[in-house]
Amino acid sequence: MHYHLLNRSFPELRRELSAHDLANWATDRERRRYAGFSSAKRRREWLLGRLTAKSLVRTYYQSRGLPSLALDQIEIMNDSLGKPCVQLIGALELHDPDRLTVSISHRKDRALCGLAEHAPGLGFGLDLEYVEPRPRLFVETFYHHNEQAQIEQCPRASRDVCITALWSIKEAFLKAIGQGLRLDLRSIWVKLTGIPGQDWLFPILICKGIPDHGSTVRVRYVGDFIESLACCHMPEQWPVKTGQGLAANAQACAFS
Ligand SMILES: CC(C)(COP(=O)(O)OP(=O)(O)OC[C@H]1O[C@@H](n2cnc3c(N)ncnc32)[C@H](O)[C@@H]1OP(=O)(O)O)[C@@H](O)C(=O)NCCC(=O)NCCS
Repeated sequence: MHYHLLNRSFPELRRELSAHDLANWATDRERRRYAGFSSAKRRREWLLGRLTAKSLVRTYYQSRGLPSLALDQIEIMNDSLGKPCVQLIGALELHDPDRLTVSISHRKDRALCGLAEHAPGLGFGLDLEYVEPRPRLFVETFYHHNEQAQIEQCPRASRDVCITALWSIKEAFLKAIGQGLRLDLRSIWVKLTGIPGQDWLFPILICKGIPDHGSTVRVRYVGDFIESLACCHMPEQWPVKTGQGLAANAQACAFS
């Protein structure tokens, strides 16, 4: 699966986007959605995610030789489960945005957005988390007992990074399958293959009762943030490619 990422704050976007972009960033439906948030924090993070995702989509199409899109020609709404969906407005509909899967995450005034060239039957998701201490009760409540054992074995100095990474990888996976936190977090567990650093690390994700799902996850620690990506077969495809096993499934989900 080919993917592209963009991680931005408001000051960075203000430097990169034109005055026209900033005045005409939304379609009518997006403006109504924006106006409908009761919380100023939610409005702000939604806007940051939208501007970042639209910049990424525009750059993607530009890199394919298409004329530059205005931001209000790129609409990003959410489906009934919350998953973002891209639609191009006007004659540009012909360029088939269904080929793109977009994922959005916002944390501490930064947004991470990713787009993947859609491959039928595969899902793509990502997550951004700020590394900070989390209480023991949080780990005991939301982490699989195997993850709790891993955390115990982690050097103390890296413990917050590992706790955050485990959480973030699962959120990326839950977004990739389009479910969000509707799924029981302890029905999946992640085995870290090291301490996350600046280079991508490739942990193993295990789903209860689905040995050959072949999902691929990756995680890195950049600045004070954890970034995670997941590519998976959609649940309706499970069990996937019966008879070919994990290696073939993982090959389909490999990032490039
Ligand atoms: C998806 C979820 C795990 C992310 O939560 P989070 O860590 O607080 O927030 P993040 O910033 O990392 O991600 C939020 C983005 O995830 C995306 N998202 C939300 N639901 C999604 C889903 N089902 N599948 C894929 N992506 C989803 C959205 O793009 C959202 O940003 P936007 O609303 O600005 O477009 C969480 O929102 C969730 O579980 N949602 C579904 C359940 C739900 O709607 N609960 C509401 C209360 S009942």
